[in-house]
Amino acid sequence: MKIAVFGGTGFLGRRIVERLLEKGFDVRAVSRHARRAKTAFASGAKAPERVEADILDRSSIAPAIAGSDAVVNAVSLYVERGGLTFERVHVTAAADLASAALQAGIGRFVQISGIGADARSDSNYIRARGRGDDVVRTMFPGAVVLRSAVMAGPDDAFLTTLMRLVRLLPVYPLFGNGATLLQPVYVGDVAEAVSRLVDHPIDAPMFEIAGPRIWRYDELVREIARRLGAHPMLVPVPFAAWNALAGATEFLPAPLITRNQVDLMRRDNVATGAILGLAELGIAPLDIEDVVRMIEEKQ
Ligand SMILES: NC(=O)c1ccc[n+]([C@@H]2O[C@H](COP(=O)([O-])OP(=O)(O)OC[C@H]3O[C@@H](n4cnc5c(N)ncnc54)[C@H](OP(=O)(O)O)[C@@H]3O)[C@@H](O)[C@H]2O)c1
Repeated sequence: MKIAVFGGTGFLGRRIVERLLEKGFDVRAVSRHARRAKTAFASGAKAPERVEADILDRSSIAPAIAGSDAVVNAVSLYVERGGLTFERVHVTAAADLASAALQAGIGRFVQISGIGADARSDSNYIRARGRGDDVVRTMFPGAVVLRSAVMAGPDDAFLTTLMRLVRLLPVYPLFGNGATLLQPVYVGDVAEAVSRLVDHPIDAPMFEIAGPRIWRYDELVREIARRLGAHPMLVPVPFAAWNALAGATEFLPAPLITRNQVDLMRRDNVATGAILGLAELGIAPLDIEDVVRMIEEKQ
């Protein structure tokens, strides 16, 4: 089988590419800068084909997926800039990719999304994710939507940053009062879930992929600090202040924090338990302790 992974050079996408290569598939890593990207694929002898295409440009989608048996959409947008909106990327472009895949006679389509995606949300980001999931299933009946909790692993924006900050800061600013519930999942487990859905499709429209334990955000920060031998004082910071900070710094090339991250931290981000997840895919998720160790080893 040949699999085209849109966003195949990203944080999650490159792990999906690696997993699929390890399983013996022919893989295309597709992104705007796929050939120039420094992404190294740690997958032994095989290498993916690198194909440059822009999901926003319909004419570049068809050649990028031609001849594939399955398509995975792991394209992200975390900050809106001008016409580049969450709606444009997560709804319109996702729909274009799904409809192009259907027209090309491709058998499988996996859409990566996030837990809590909700087409009626008042958050631009969460609403676009929810609408995108719906529209992909309309354009490509039989598509599987994989909604993930926040992902952790080497080079992530979540746990690596948290570890760096608890070591560095004497005073650690919490999101709100730190009571948000999170269920972080190892990025490799998400990639494994995608590879299993491609390999042995299960007839289900959606999966929620989350880690083995639900944490209150402040408990997670305390636990990581304890493991690293750090003793920061945890201080509540209102969400309005985070939003103001995100709004003021989002224009930077590598923003400290984005408004969609603040939106996500306002709500609990845990699996509903009402739909299929890692257990049904036969995957035992890695504990956060093991992910912390993995990140430390890579530092
Ligand atoms: N990271 C998390 O904790 C998390 C949690 C839940 C859900 N998710 C979801 O998982 C998916 C992947 O996220 P990620 O964190 O791996 O993102 P990422 O690291 O930012 O990677 C995004 C990938 O998409 C490509 N891309 C961006 N715009 C594109 C375009 N217009 N056309 C083609 N390719 C494009 C990028 O490469 P180029 O720049 O070269 O195009 C890159 O390969 C997203 O749907 C995200 O919302 C992530």
